[in-house]
Amino acid sequence: AEKIILDCDPGHDDAIALLLAHGNPDIELLGVTTVMGNQTIEKVTRNALAIARVAGITDVPFARGAHRPLVRQIEVAESIHGESGLDGPVLPEPTIELDARHAVDFIIDTVMAHEPGTVTLVPTGALTNIALAVRKEPRITERVKQVVLMGGGVNVGNWSATSEFNIVIDPEAAHIVFNECWPLTMVGLDLTHEALATDEVAASIAAVGTGPARFVGELLEFFGETYREAQGFDHPPVHDPCAVAFVIDPSVMQVVKVPLDVELTGTLTLGMTVADFRAPAPADCTTQVARNLDHPKFWGMVVDALERIGDP
Ligand code: BDR
Ligand code: CA
Repeated sequence: AEKIILDCDPGHDDAIALLLAHGNPDIELLGVTTVMGNQTIEKVTRNALAIARVAGITDVPFARGAHRPLVRQIEVAESIHGESGLDGPVLPEPTIELDARHAVDFIIDTVMAHEPGTVTLVPTGALTNIALAVRKEPRITERVKQVVLMGGGVNVGNWSATSEFNIVIDPEAAHIVFNECWPLTMVGLDLTHEALATDEVAASIAAVGTGPARFVGELLEFFGETYREAQGFDHPPVHDPCAVAFVIDPSVMQVVKVPLDVELTGTLTLGMTVADFRAPAPADCTTQVARNLDHPKFWGMVVDALERIGDP
């Protein structure tokens, strides 16, 4: 199984990413770390623990991370995820305790404690924790197997004309992470805007008939409404589990190697992920972007994970 740390800001799609990681047998979830983003760090951390209860996750450490971006003021996505960050379902009281460590220390300790090249980082929020971790312990760059992140997009934005939420709320952190020479896969909006929760998808999730599946159904209902109103989508794009799906089975999408960087000084393009497609990627290029989702295969993985989770 692939060992991962899920660094997230739940968040409706982060919640589904966590359920997929927990329910899929090819993933070994070493830990869950939280970062501000969709809501404040207090709210997203509480949400993460509530999801753990829904999914029956009892033996995975959860660690709280950064409460604000490196340089900029905090900006939350209440218009998409609501006041709690996970509006829609009733959230149960958490039953597990947080790890005593800060997320940054948890990430460093976990990566350094495992064999080199065995731990994959899966960030599905702002890159603040990952940037702080690599600045505090630079040896993690060589040590992690790969970084598979949800964020950015090639010539597509959602929080501005050019920029995606996870990147633009902490562009300096993203800049750090994109410029480390670890293998990095950007699962950005080009890919995740294909991960639409259609009516057929909602029906197959409802057919699972368990508590966690109903929870996902309620999440998708709320997420679908806000995406319709705020972003003009008929069906919501469920971004974050796409990054987990790539770790499980890379054939669920295509990837193309391309140099990537993050815009820090543009007046209109702050936080844009710039892909240089002028020439074939040089041999030492460590970055790639995902495109072309196998939609049935992806949603099949999510449904399969829910079936395996059952009614904990
Ligand atoms: C990303 O922003 C967040 O609101 C979602 O959880 C996802 O990680 C999509 O732009
Ligand atoms: Ca997220």
